[in-house]
Parts: sequence; C-alpha cells; structure tokens
Amino acid sequence: MKFEKIQAPKGVREYLPPESSAFEWVREQLIAPAKAAGYTLMELPVFEDTNLFTRGVGESTDVVSKEMYTFEDRGGRSITLRPEGTAGVMRAVIEANLDRGQLPVKVWYSGQFFRAERPQAGRYRQFYQVGIEAIGVDDPALDAEVIAIADQGFKNLGLKNYRLDITSLGDAASRAAHRVDLMKFIGQLDLDEATKERASINPLRLFDDKRPQMQSAMAKAPLLLDYLSEESRANFDRVKEYLTVMGIAFVVNPRMVRGLDYYTGTTFEFVHSDLGAQSGIGGGGRYDGLMEILGGQTLSGIGFGLGVDRALLAAVAEGTVPGEEFSSDLFIIPLGDEAKSSALRMAQELRARSIRIEIAFGDRALKGAMKAADKSGARYVIVLGDAELAAGEVELKRMSDGVISSVKIEQLKSTLIEALSLTTLN
Ligand code: HAM
Repeated sequence: MKFEKIQAPKGVREYLPPESSAFEWVREQLIAPAKAAGYTLMELPVFEDTNLFTRGVGESTDVVSKEMYTFEDRGGRSITLRPEGTAGVMRAVIEANLDRGQLPVKVWYSGQFFRAERPQAGRYRQFYQVGIEAIGVDDPALDAEVIAIADQGFKNLGLKNYRLDITSLGDAASRAAHRVDLMKFIGQLDLDEATKERASINPLRLFDDKRPQMQSAMAKAPLLLDYLSEESRANFDRVKEYLTVMGIAFVVNPRMVRGLDYYTGTTFEFVHSDLGAQSGIGGGGRYDGLMEILGGQTLSGIGFGLGVDRALLAAVAEGTVPGEEFSSDLFIIPLGDEAKSSALRMAQELRARSIRIEIAFGDRALKGAMKAADKSGARYVIVLGDAELAAGEVELKRMSDGVISSVKIEQLKSTLIEALSLTTLN
C-alpha cells in the first residue's frame, strides 16, 4: 500500500535548513535590543479565550471580524489562536498581578501568530513576531525608547531601506473632538452597509480602506492630528524631540491607521521599501485603555510587534544575511561498534569544553566518510578504528593543509584546545 504525502496547511510559513539559521539570526537580532534595555521574557499560550481578542483588539478590525482562527474546544469554550500578542500579555499581567509590582512591567515575547489572511509574499496565516510591551508608565521618553528598541533591531540586521512613520491618536478628549467632525464628514459619503457598520465602531478604520474610491473619498477627511489637545500635542512633541536626540529619523504620517483598535497616543510603523505590498516590517503604539477593557486597573501601556518573516525578507533583499554555516572543530569517523562507543564518549567530553564535534553515523565506508568530513568544513578529522583504540593513539588531520600528526587519545582534548585557540588567535 502506498500512502499519499501530506502537505503543510495553506499560507503557513515554516523555516527549514539551511534558511532556518537566517531566520534564527533575524529573530535574535530583533530581540537583543529589548534584552539590553531590561525587558524580560514572557512565554504565553498560542490560544486564548476568544473574548480576549474581540474585546481587546476590537470588532471593527479585519483581524477580529475576518481573520481569526476560532474554534470550540472539547469543553464547548470558544478558543482563538492568537492573532497578535498585546492582548495576551495584558491578560497575563492582570491575571498574575504583575501590575501591582514595579512599573513599568517590561516584557518581550516571540513566537507564532495566526491570521486567516489571503496568503501572498510576506503575508502568511501563521507568521512570527518579536514584540515588547511596557505597561504602567505614561511618559513620552518611554514611547521614544520603545521605538528606539525596534529601530535598533532593524539596524542590527543591517537594514537601511526602511522608514519610520509616526503619528499620535491623542487622548480621549482629542479623539472625541475629532470623532464628531469625522462622523459628520463620513455622513456625507455614499457608503455600503458594511463600511457604515465599521465606521460606527471605529471611524478611523476608513482611512485604512485600500479601495481607490474610499482613498479618494477620505482624502479631504479631517485628520486626528489636527485635533490634539494641548497636552497630547505637547506629549507628541516630546516624543519627536527624544527621537531626534537619539538620531532616529521619522516621518509624521497623520493618515496612518494601525490595524488594531486599542491604540491611543503615539503610534508608529516601520515600512520597508523593497518588499512590495506587504511592506510593514513592524509597528506598535500606546494602548492606554486596554488594561481597563480587559478587567484590570486603569494603566497605560506601549509596545510593538516586529514581523520576523518580513524582516528576513528585507534582510535578504538588502543582502545583509551572514552566510553562517555550521562547521565542526573535529569530525570523528568511528569504525566498528567499540569505536562508536569511544567516539560518543569523546564527543561528550569535548563538547563539554565547547569544542564542536560531529560524528560520522551509519556504517559507511571510510572513503565516503572522509568525503563527508571534507564537505562538512570540519577543521580536524580523526579516524577511530580497532588499531587506533589498541594503540591509544589517533592521527589528527588538519583539513586546511592536510597535515597529519599523531596524538595520544588521552591528550586529544588538550591538543585540540591548544590548536583551536591558536587558530582563533591567528
Ligand atoms: P501588527 O501591526 O498587526 O501589530 O503586526 C506587527 C507586525 O507583524 C507587522 O508589522 C508585520 O510585520 C507582521 N505581520 C502581521 N501580520 C502578518 C502576516 N499575516 N504575515 C506576516 N507578517 C505579519 C501587532 O500585532 C501589535 N500587537 C503590535 C503591538 C504590540 N502594538 C503594541 N504592542
């Protein structure tokens, strides 16, 4: 009987060797600035109570209304695969009372997120984000720091062809004043029912409508940035000043609308120019009402999510991915059962000293194993057979020039440590 092959689900992004090491590199580069700024890891479930997202992210958003992977679990509860990370972090902070301790709560996370979007280059149904959240302090200097951490991540990748867009959604008073005029403006437009419905939940959504007729209809719409209260304006001015002090270039984009409803105050997006339609490599902002909406106290928060998949595409497009392939320090070719057991023991001992070891497995002929050793890029090779074990001595071959030296097995460790440190020093 012949079984049919099974394929990965549509739109799912996965990373296999050799590309996976580039993916890992990107993720680590994006995380490093957060760690360096005192953010600590939060490892959260990938599925949550559906209410967390309908309430936290907002029902006017595409993410909630069209893209959630929602199902009933065996206990009849409505569960959703997380489409984003902020709501889950807030849920966990409230549940564990972290907001009753030292503020701001500063956490980072990384992992898979799920949105049932139409797959295309840079847009996947399972994708990866690195994110941070800083909860409990409302200070424009913190806004600037959060943006700077994201920016540093992209700089770590060597990216140059990107731009930072920022705007401010102001405080509640600013948004209320703007909403009155925006609703008046929208009231004059000829809209279909679905669009009217979205506008009634969050009229700002219409700025994000990609249809050309909507874009031109909204071209003259009143902009929230022109309605900022004095306090919100001063706050936004400080954020811009701090960014300038840090040498971070930005463009104020008053028409920018983030895809999630919890945002207030400073919001931002990083846009890469080599990626076509899916150009947003990261984004975030303040979400001062989220904790309260989720049943917690009234505390502010700010954070970002960076798209690891897109950051990798950007790094590939800009040619900044380092060609790092694993190569061992020593490749051991054991011949026979006894030699295998010695090879395993030797590898164990040498790896404990951070020497990178590969062993030739399977009972390949010596010639084939030597070829594999050569191809692997190993720096040294030994063949371990009955004769070597009996003599307690191996021939250590330096692959760079083929020079062979006899080494007592018991001295292999110290010989290798010396040889490797010498070549590292050179
Ligand atoms: P977001 O803008 O929805 O924000 O997503 C952040 C980043 O995730 C995007 O800029 C993009 O790079 C990547 N991304 C989103 N959807 C996809 C997809 N379908 N395929 C590939 N990459 C994608 C958030 O998720 C907020 N939670 C960020 C945040 C944290 N705001 C405050 N704190």
